[in-house]
Amino acid sequence: MSLRAKRGSPRPRLGAEELATRARNISVSEFFLENRHLLGYDAPGKAILTAVKEAVDNAIDACEEAGLLPALRVEIERRGDGVFRIAVEDNGPGIVDRQIAKIFGKLLYGSKFHKLGQSRGQQGLGISAAGMYGQLTTGQPMRILTRTSTRRPARELVLSIDTAHNRPKVHREGAIDWAIKHGTRVEFELEGRYQRGQHSVEEYLRLTALANPHVRIELEDPDGNQIVYPRVVRKLPPAPRAMKPHPHGIELGRLQAMLGATTRRTLATFLQHQLSRVGAKTAADVLATTGPRLRPESDPHALTARDVADLLRALGQAHVSAPDPQSVVPIGQSALLRALRREVDAQAFFATTRRPAVYRGNPFVVEIALAWGPGRGRPRAGRTPMGGADSPATVLRFANRVPLLFSASGCAITKAMVEVDWRTYGLSQPSGALPLGPLVVLVHVASSWVPFTSESKEAIAPYSEILHEIKLALQHCGRQLAARIAAAKRRQRDLDQLHAIERYVPHVALALQQLLDLSDAERDRTVADLETILLATRGEPAHAHDSMLGENRAHA
Ligand SMILES: Nc1ncnc2c1ncn2[C@@H]1O[C@H](COP(=O)(O)OP(=O)(O)OP(=O)(O)O)[C@@H](O)[C@H]1O
Ligand SMILES: [Mg+2]
Repeated sequence: MSLRAKRGSPRPRLGAEELATRARNISVSEFFLENRHLLGYDAPGKAILTAVKEAVDNAIDACEEAGLLPALRVEIERRGDGVFRIAVEDNGPGIVDRQIAKIFGKLLYGSKFHKLGQSRGQQGLGISAAGMYGQLTTGQPMRILTRTSTRRPARELVLSIDTAHNRPKVHREGAIDWAIKHGTRVEFELEGRYQRGQHSVEEYLRLTALANPHVRIELEDPDGNQIVYPRVVRKLPPAPRAMKPHPHGIELGRLQAMLGATTRRTLATFLQHQLSRVGAKTAADVLATTGPRLRPESDPHALTARDVADLLRALGQAHVSAPDPQSVVPIGQSALLRALRREVDAQAFFATTRRPAVYRGNPFVVEIALAWGPGRGRPRAGRTPMGGADSPATVLRFANRVPLLFSASGCAITKAMVEVDWRTYGLSQPSGALPLGPLVVLVHVASSWVPFTSESKEAIAPYSEILHEIKLALQHCGRQLAARIAAAKRRQRDLDQLHAIERYVPHVALALQQLLDLSDAERDRTVADLETILLATRGEPAHAHDSMLGENRAHA
């Protein structure tokens, strides 16, 4: 081989004009087709779960928004080697004709991105991306059935995505007989592997049911098994109130964009109407602390970059009340405890829900429930097992009631778990790792906008405000846990001492009997006297011996 071939051909010199001919628009579908790992389609074992998750999250969101108790059916059918047909059906409000094709056949089209209210979906990507992945791996289009009321027939649409232009390509459309009053059914085929156990559809649905006790889900798995996740409460969670950005932490670019787009004529009315928790007085106070260029009657469209920076600083320092607690809806302490008790067999449970806080102008709330100590029941199949003394704690992560099953290490929740010093609470913890011991921690972050680390929405970005709140919640339960662990250790020490008394006193008495030539009755009396003296020196009444040992035997 010549030296020239080894080094590769020399680069030709190209001018800017020639280079410019290479640049062209990239459709968002083309982008995500190439970068499907960003959407969660990076492994066959994950693809089915990701697709089911997108459809299920949408179904629950739609039902809740329409004020309907969600009842879902998920069907997964094996179609061929490594090919599955997924169908997800809901009893939601249905979708109006003019929206159907765009929702399923166009990436970045949705109703939640701009709304600033808490929901499972936020990006307008999930369901069309699932269909696109199916189309890519099997060549098959999506089929959608939807019905909005009994007064109108159901609609059927078969469509695929024209990825070069990111627009729907409808193959078939029309009215169809469908014996439901309202709802939507999404069907598509995709390549994947159906797995059980960890990271399975079943795990995701079980944990979804755990965080959403008002939802009923039926699953038909590829082997025809029917699994029902029943509804536990018949009440919908309260509807989160849509919220304008909170003045604390709002970013410069966002404020600039809002000022540019506002229909308000004065800065004072802009502040009052487009930010939350700002009334006339706060607006006046804020504008009193900015430079003289910014006045209540200034035109919000005429601000320079420096003015916006000035305004941002004044907003950050303003005394503004915390975000409206109704803008984010936690699961709630008692519902969380009930849910965790159903999921984990443990000795002690603790829970806490923090008050709403703000990151980047978005309200969020953190809540946690913690289960500790192996329970006394038999481990139930398909539930979260309690680890042993040397195993790392199990962490169940949720964002807006959606279980997060992947990318744990990059998630704010895991980071907070690792950064809390659990040794202060009586657990052992290798440095930079999760605590060890029989511990299951459920962490839920609810927000009007969850900052996910990627479009697949698998992990929460570790913003310092979010990390701080999670750590405070963990520490709160940690302190309760510490008291419980200390009590358990004291109890164990007492039992060990009582066992020692029970084990050695009869031997001492026998030795005394031989040495002092005691009768059996005298020996027994000596045993009783010795035990009474030993217990009295430990500050225990004599009957404590029997009751504690008795209890211990019962445990054994
Ligand atoms: N089952 C359904 N019933 C009614 N409307 C639906 C249903 N599924 C989807 N939609 C509508 O379609 C839109 C797009 O759904 P998609 O999953 O693509 O995005 P999203 O849920 O808004 O955000 P994300 O990408 O985070 O999931 C939703 O915003 C919702 O308005
Ligand atoms: Mg969605």
